Amino acid sequence: MGNSSSAPWVRLSFCVPSALMEAALAWVEGEESLGAETRELADGEVAFQLYFSVENSPEAPAQRLSHALGVPVAVQIESVADGRWEEIYYQGLAPFPVGERFIIYPGDAPGSEAQREDRIALWIPPGRAFGTGDHATTQLCVRFLERHVQRGNRVLDVGTGSGILALVAASLGAARVVAVEVDPEVACVALENLRRHRVGAVVELVEGTTQSVSGCFDLLAANLRSGLLMESMADLAFLLRPGGMAVLSGILIPEANEVQTAALGRGLEVTAQASSGEWVALELVKPC
Ligand SMILES: C[S@@+](CC[C@H](N)C(=O)[O-])C[C@H]1O[C@@H](n2cnc3c(N)ncnc32)[C@H](O)[C@@H]1O
Repeated sequence: MGNSSSAPWVRLSFCVPSALMEAALAWVEGEESLGAETRELADGEVAFQLYFSVENSPEAPAQRLSHALGVPVAVQIESVADGRWEEIYYQGLAPFPVGERFIIYPGDAPGSEAQREDRIALWIPPGRAFGTGDHATTQLCVRFLERHVQRGNRVLDVGTGSGILALVAASLGAARVVAVEVDPEVACVALENLRRHRVGAVVELVEGTTQSVSGCFDLLAANLRSGLLMESMADLAFLLRPGGMAVLSGILIPEANEVQTAALGRGLEVTAQASSGEWVALELVKPC
């Protein structure tokens, strides 16, 4: 966070389809704003707001953002007086509940007030990695883990992003969690979040894909795009022990049948389907 003089600030606001969220986050990262927030909208779009000092406000942002994303994006530019952006930014960093048992602290570290909560506090600052806890696909996985993790379980988190699902599994009593992430930059963010929670004895971070993992898991969570889920299905089925359960998230409603067919083709059975907005999560079991 930057300085808090009383100079006016500049706010850039724009929306992109959720499919372009990661590309937009990469662009935002390169802009060195003083603060940035994202918010998922009901229509499948993600709203971004970035704050800059007047002196450092970016040149031709709409043009450069459109170029970076390969589609035209409208950018609204406004002045925000007297550091009010900081107030607005911090409002967006208020702790929020996820699932039945967790509360995410995106801003300051959980303090003594967190101990009074009847929820488990996780400290996950917004950053380069997906998995801040506010996305429906993440929340569907959290609910699955809350229902199924048992003390001593071995859990595989495929596409860990921020590490949130690995942290959830470890907090619920898993004995061993393997968190896999293909993007090295994102893996650094995950490592930082895992260190922050001192779960090194339980969670192992693997930079790579399911091909880089060995072992046998009681539970598996994979929040990836449908295409990747289908590509990885043979590995996912192989890594799950007989009787083990999986949640596959990141599936848009029209894609659910195709992913389900791919799972059946690898000998997995669909036991439940949960949805939130346009997203579906399939719950599977590997028969004994
Ligand atoms: C949608 S995010 C999910 C993050 C977090 N698990 C959550 O549920 O919020 C997907 C993550 O998977 C990573 N990823 C994409 N393909 C992958 C693959 N084949 N193997 C491992 N990770 C992958 C991406 O870099 C991204 O960080």
